[in-house]
Amino acid sequence: MTTPVSTRGETIERCERNDPSTAINESALVPSTSRTSDIVIVSNRLPVHRVNTSTGDAWETSPGGLVSALTPILQKRPSSWIGWAGNAGDAPTPFKHDRITNLPVALSADEVEDFYEGFSNRTLWPLYHDAVRTPEYRRRWWKPYVQVNRRFAQAAANAAAEGGIVWVHDYHLQLVPSMLRELRPDLRLGFFLHIPFPPRELFMQLPWRESILEGLLGADVVGFQTSEGAQNFVHLTRRYTSLSGRRDALQYRGRHVRIDAFPVSIDTQKYESLATTAETQRRAERYRSRLGKSRRIILGVDRLDYTKGIDIRLRAYQDLLRSGRASPNEVALVQVCVPSRERVQEYKELKSHIERLVGEINGEFGELGKTPIHYLHRSLPIDELVALYRAADVMLVTPLRDGMNLVAKEYVATRFDNTGVLVLSEFTGSAKELKSALLVNPHDIDRLADTIRSALDQPADEQSTRMASLRRHIRRFDVYHWAEAFLLTLNDDLY
Ligand code: F6P
Repeated sequence: MTTPVSTRGETIERCERNDPSTAINESALVPSTSRTSDIVIVSNRLPVHRVNTSTGDAWETSPGGLVSALTPILQKRPSSWIGWAGNAGDAPTPFKHDRITNLPVALSADEVEDFYEGFSNRTLWPLYHDAVRTPEYRRRWWKPYVQVNRRFAQAAANAAAEGGIVWVHDYHLQLVPSMLRELRPDLRLGFFLHIPFPPRELFMQLPWRESILEGLLGADVVGFQTSEGAQNFVHLTRRYTSLSGRRDALQYRGRHVRIDAFPVSIDTQKYESLATTAETQRRAERYRSRLGKSRRIILGVDRLDYTKGIDIRLRAYQDLLRSGRASPNEVALVQVCVPSRERVQEYKELKSHIERLVGEINGEFGELGKTPIHYLHRSLPIDELVALYRAADVMLVTPLRDGMNLVAKEYVATRFDNTGVLVLSEFTGSAKELKSALLVNPHDIDRLADTIRSALDQPADEQSTRMASLRRHIRRFDVYHWAEAFLLTLNDDLY
């Protein structure tokens, strides 16, 4: 078997010997490859998803900045992407898409429940998001987390060329760096966390804290969205592991480890270009006239997640309507909720809660033909999304905690005429960069309601000054800048 990982004093090998039900044929779950990839990306999901077409099933590139930023880099050299295809059971055989080799890793139904829905999304997700829901520390979820991480590490070890680069992404795979280092000490290893890294006193709750910290320290470069996240990590690793040295020369087990902030971004140019097409302008006009030409449009676009503060935002809007400071004749709120993690209990409860609230507000304040909230529970294709951004006078981004929040950056990218107002939660990574937005504490409903009102009233010249400054920032710091900064830190021969 592979190298053991410490799990609070035990090793996984011992766990597996003690429990015959875990006797899985691991090699059947890892795609078989030869060591030929100069760069390997490892993330929970593959960069593609399956779609039904008239000629049968096909793979389609998934939306998102990560895939667009990395694709050109990967296409220039032998490379592969390791991830889960999204279904329980056997993995599809490896395949090429867009000149990148996709290496699907299998997850059993139990692993989907325990590794993905359990440890990743009911333990780590709430803990890393300021415990806005209570994290569940279930001992039976830990072993599957270790087991699946080892599978991803083995797949990367099989795929990477001698001296190659492996870049591991996100909270699902925090043990992969140290496991992979044991298997392949010749590789350059990077890790990037897309979600917040929590404050010390919260992380300290985690029963497996040492294993997670040691897992991450297997990387040569450990990247976070914000400098606060990086600082929290350094503080904790100094306390719970043998990490030592000055902040700019950290040492762990005889290696130099770089720990820093690399704020992720979007393909700014792509959003800007899409926003300026004639088709988008027409579509945005259509949306505006359907919502009522004279009405101001407020927009929210979020994954349906309890971290996003959707309910608080609706309450603030309800307050404005109740107090008469806004009326459905004057404004319409469009709230898009993209379905997410629908089998997880907290997400089911959130959906009912939001839908009840939307019904309540529409019932109380709606007039025939004048609905206060237009609620869409689906994901939208990018051209419809961009047209909605163009139609919106005010964009509400009010998470209780968010690693970055790319919706805020997408909205800004589409405002090529420097109109529109972004209301942005102070608890997002984006707020550290988008300082000319109207920053708000989303927990403070009164202030949030006041801020929405100020956004609706913001004079055109102020909109223009603020938006121009926001746009300057995201044009310079786009997702290509992010990927280059990280990869150059990992290996300056790459560019
Ligand atoms: O932001 C973290 C993240 O895991 C993203 O990588 C992903 O796009 C999103 O949340 C949705 O997550 P899931 O893979 O659970 O659907």
